[in-house]
Amino acid sequence: MKTIAVLTGAGMSAESGINTFRDSDGLWENHRVEDVATIDAWYRNPKLVLDFYNERRRQLVGVEPNRGHLILHELEKNFDVQIITQNVDNLHERAGSSHVIHLHGELTKACNEHKTIVKDIAYNEIHIGQKLGDTQMRPFIVWFGEAVPEIERAMKIVETADIVVIIGTSLQVYPAAGLINYAPKHSPIYYIDPKGADILPSRVHLLKKGASEGLEELKNNLLANR
Ligand code: APR
Repeated sequence: MKTIAVLTGAGMSAESGINTFRDSDGLWENHRVEDVATIDAWYRNPKLVLDFYNERRRQLVGVEPNRGHLILHELEKNFDVQIITQNVDNLHERAGSSHVIHLHGELTKACNEHKTIVKDIAYNEIHIGQKLGDTQMRPFIVWFGEAVPEIERAMKIVETADIVVIIGTSLQVYPAAGLINYAPKHSPIYYIDPKGADILPSRVHLLKKGASEGLEELKNNLLANR
């Protein structure tokens, strides 16, 4: 079975009703990224950060995987599909995908200050004063300014992939955006995004479409040429 490495970003979940980060005037759900998604923001105003992620978790209860998520699951019948997502939602898992790496953490988990203890919290809120181990409990999210421990595992998957598929990411945030450079020379790279990114290696096949439509087309193409 051929391996497909799939890198997904916020655009993957857009058709489920979750806003992307950079499509709305630089604001993310009415907040500046610097105020809610950096390690400094956590030190400065932990309550604002907790409220923000409590709201993201509440939002997640009300949304469903879209056709694109479901197609990635369907592809497991014919391919070894390895998903590497920048998204903190759980829509790939809820669509049935078996192999999902979360580069930037997961909304449904919490951890202690140094991330040595990680706990499933489902859709529950985290409050100031709530402890995990002997520190304040915090969202299990990789904020700007923090290490991305899963990047090594992701690099190994891309390095050995027969096919690389990138979906719904502006490729502006590193180290995730750099994964594209680890694709083997002989492996085709498909990029599904209605806008596309500014700088792309010339061998990338760009499908300027939304995730569901683009994946429907790519699935037919991959199945015909497998
Ligand atoms: N289908 C596919 N792609 C879409 C759709 C859609 N229906 N709608 C929008 N997009 C694309 C946009 O064109 C854009 O290129 O999704 C991309 C979203 O880009 P960003 O908002 O920059 O999100 P992403 O690339 O995932 O951001 C990376 O930055 O804020 C941090 O940690 C956060 O994981 C996030 C990281």
